[in-house]
Amino acid sequence: RRSGDLAGRRVIVTAGGTQEPIDPVRYVGNHSSGKMGYAIATEARDRGADVVLVTGPVSLPAPYGVDLIRVETASQMRDAVMATVHDADALVMSAAVADFRPAHPSPQKIKKHAGEHLAITPPGQQGQATPDADTSGGGFSIHLVRNPDILAELASLQAAQPRSNAGEQPRPRRLVRVGFAAETENVISNARDKLVRKRLDLLVANDVMRSDSGFGADTNKVYFFHADGSMEDLPVMPKAGVAAAIWDRVISLLA
Ligand code: C5P
Repeated sequence: RRSGDLAGRRVIVTAGGTQEPIDPVRYVGNHSSGKMGYAIATEARDRGADVVLVTGPVSLPAPYGVDLIRVETASQMRDAVMATVHDADALVMSAAVADFRPAHPSPQKIKKHAGEHLAITPPGQQGQATPDADTSGGGFSIHLVRNPDILAELASLQAAQPRSNAGEQPRPRRLVRVGFAAETENVISNARDKLVRKRLDLLVANDVMRSDSGFGADTNKVYFFHADGSMEDLPVMPKAGVAAAIWDRVISLLA
């Protein structure tokens, strides 16, 4: 660890999973523990950075000396990132953002008996069965819609920015962007695809089917995919070690 090598840098880290409400007591979520993102945030703090940690609901203590923004949904996470990213040097998106959310969360708890309260309906149609709330045959369907893709939105924002417009606008500060890929199959080809699609500087891919890697584990086995097409195969390491390796790469990109 090179102490102080992130001094004067502002970094944003996202962590944990998002929770997308179905009704006031239920949500669509995932198994993210937040451990990787919290390790990345504390490592950046220890190396001197000003750290904003945008976190989904997790059962980890708030790290000392880090600016914590608590969110629940992907939309809230998007808003928190967009509100803080303008003067940041790096964004590390380790959060497991839900790709979909229930289209019409119910304002009341959904009952298991059809007709008692069919609630996942568009506004003004409470109590009517719609394609969103199909309880026929005792089953129940929830209509899901796509969430905003935070990294993809940032990529298109950067692509839309003028490169050097005769000094009229100050050139936007370069933002190093790091994404994560939690894959269960075809780790390498999916990761390469994601790196290009989201225009990332670095993509950290882990095989979440391994017991020493991914959700809830204290260690991680990752591959780094770089924008120049190269790949690094890192050994199984504590998540703090993976965090240190990520910041080493980000620092060389910032130099
Ligand atoms: O496409 P996929 O969800 O696998 O991409 C994972 C990467 O993209 C992660 O870095 C995650 O934080 C980010 N992501 C995002 N917005 C989403 C979904 C994922 O920024 N809606």
